[in-house]
Amino acid sequence: MFVNIMKSSDKIQNYEIILSNLDYYIIKGDNLVTNLSNLSSFLDYFLDDINWVGFYLFDGEKLYLGPFQGLPACTSIALGNGVCGTCALSKQSIVVNDVHVFKNHIGCDSSSNSEIVIPIIKNNQLIGVLDIDSPSYSRFDKIDKLYLEKVIGKLVDKL
Ligand code: SME
Repeated sequence: MFVNIMKSSDKIQNYEIILSNLDYYIIKGDNLVTNLSNLSSFLDYFLDDINWVGFYLFDGEKLYLGPFQGLPACTSIALGNGVCGTCALSKQSIVVNDVHVFKNHIGCDSSSNSEIVIPIIKNNQLIGVLDIDSPSYSRFDKIDKLYLEKVIGKLVDKL
């Protein structure tokens, strides 16, 4: 299997490329780790100005580290802790323009300055969260939130 993936200089176009390729690389019913590994690779390749992208998965009690691209990160996060735990508890996407002023932000990489976290919910059940960090302040906007929610929506359809 090979799909030609050419990165564009346009952010929206890159998200559209990710969405159109998910059908080839995210296989319905395939192993969760397999699907999330490919998705973390896609996001790492197509998103500019990020230093960490990956998943924290819910085991019924806490979030634990899943497939990711970037430096080693904290291995588990309690619900309500940090941006990821807050997102998991509220089941709402969170965009943080400056992580240093987010109450109980968990720092894993000192170069991170902004962050976006998207919940992964299927049939009202929390599966985990997608977490992306950037070294730039205010890196993530409404377009990123919209498209990342679409990407996660497509992922959820295949779980
Ligand atoms: N900053 C996150 C922790 C995970 S790392 O960014 C990879 C948080 O506050 O939940």
